[in-house]
Amino acid sequence: MIPNDFYFIAQMLKERSGFSLTADQIYLLESRLGPIIRQNNLISLEDLINSLKLNDEELKEAVIEAVSINNTRFFRNKYVFRTIEEFLRSELKQNPQKKNIKILSAGCASGQEPVSIGILLKEMNLPEDIQADIYALDMSHHIIDRAKKGVYTHYEVQKGLPIRLLLKYFLHKEEAWQVRPEVMKMIHYHVHNIMNVFYENDFDIILCRNMLSYMTDEAQKKALQNLHDVLSETGVLIVGASEVLHYMDGFEKVPDKMGCYQLKNEENKPLDVSPKSAWTLIKKPLFKPAIPKKK
Ligand SMILES: C[S@@+](CC[C@H](N)C(=O)[O-])C[C@H]1O[C@@H](n2cnc3c(N)ncnc32)[C@H](O)[C@@H]1O
Repeated sequence: MIPNDFYFIAQMLKERSGFSLTADQIYLLESRLGPIIRQNNLISLEDLINSLKLNDEELKEAVIEAVSINNTRFFRNKYVFRTIEEFLRSELKQNPQKKNIKILSAGCASGQEPVSIGILLKEMNLPEDIQADIYALDMSHHIIDRAKKGVYTHYEVQKGLPIRLLLKYFLHKEEAWQVRPEVMKMIHYHVHNIMNVFYENDFDIILCRNMLSYMTDEAQKKALQNLHDVLSETGVLIVGASEVLHYMDGFEKVPDKMGCYQLKNEENKPLDVSPKSAWTLIKKPLFKPAIPKKK
C-alpha cells in the first residue's frame, strides 16, 4: 500500500468516526480491505480508493466498519440494555438493602458503551440513595483519552442514539456533541489490560463484548479468569451474542438470555430466571424508536 492511499483512508476514518490509524497499522488496512475489494467486484486497492473518491457512501461505510479496530456505537445491540435493566430491577427487588450498583465495561473503546449504560441508569430513575458507578477500561491510552472527553461527532451520535436521548443527555458544541456532566460523572475511565488483575471487584454486571473472540486462546482464558474473579456472586457477565468462547468453566449460561453468564452455582440449583422473576416481568421497551413505525 502506498503512503498516499493509507493517508486517504486514515483521513476518511478520522473525519467520519474520530478514530485515528497510525502508520504501523498499514498491515491492518491491507488485510481488512481485501474482502471489501472482492465483495464489490473491484480489482485493486487503487480501484477501491477511486470509488471512495467518487463518494460512494455505502462503500465508505463498509471501509470504516472494516478498519475500525475500536469499532463501537451507542446502544450496540439494544436487547443487551434491556437485559441490564431487567437484571438490575430484579437485583434491587430481591435485595432492598442494596445501595450501590457497580458495572464494568471492559474494552470500552471510545466510550459509547459506558455512556449508553449511564444514560440507561438515568432513564431508569433509580431511587436517589442508590449510588451507581460504571468502570470503563481499555488497554489503549489513546482511546481512553478520547473517551474521557465525552465528545462525539455527528456521525457517531447518529449511530444508535435515539434523538430524544441525544437532546436530553448531550450538549451541542460547535460541530460535536458533548455528554452532559451528570452522565460523565458516573463513569470512571482507566487504561487497563484485561489480562491483568483489576483492582476493583464485586461487579453486578460486566460487559465484555466484541473483544474476547479476537484474542488468542491463552489470552482469552486469562481474561475470563480475571472477569470471573471480579464478578459478584449474583452478577452477570455479558459477552457478544455471536462470540464463541472456549473457557467458560467457572460460568453457566443464563437461560434464554443471549451472551449472558453467571458464576456457576455451587449447588447446581437452577438460577431464578423463571417466567415469574423480574427478568421477564418488564415487557415495556425502554427505548422508543426515534421515528414511530407506521402501522
Ligand atoms: C471492537 S472494540 C469493542 C468496544 C465495545 N465493547 C463494543 O462492543 O462496542 C474492542 C476494544 O477492546 C480493546 N481491547 C482489546 N484487547 C484488550 C485487552 N486485552 N484489554 C483491554 N482492552 C482491550 C480494544 O482497544 C478496543 O477498544
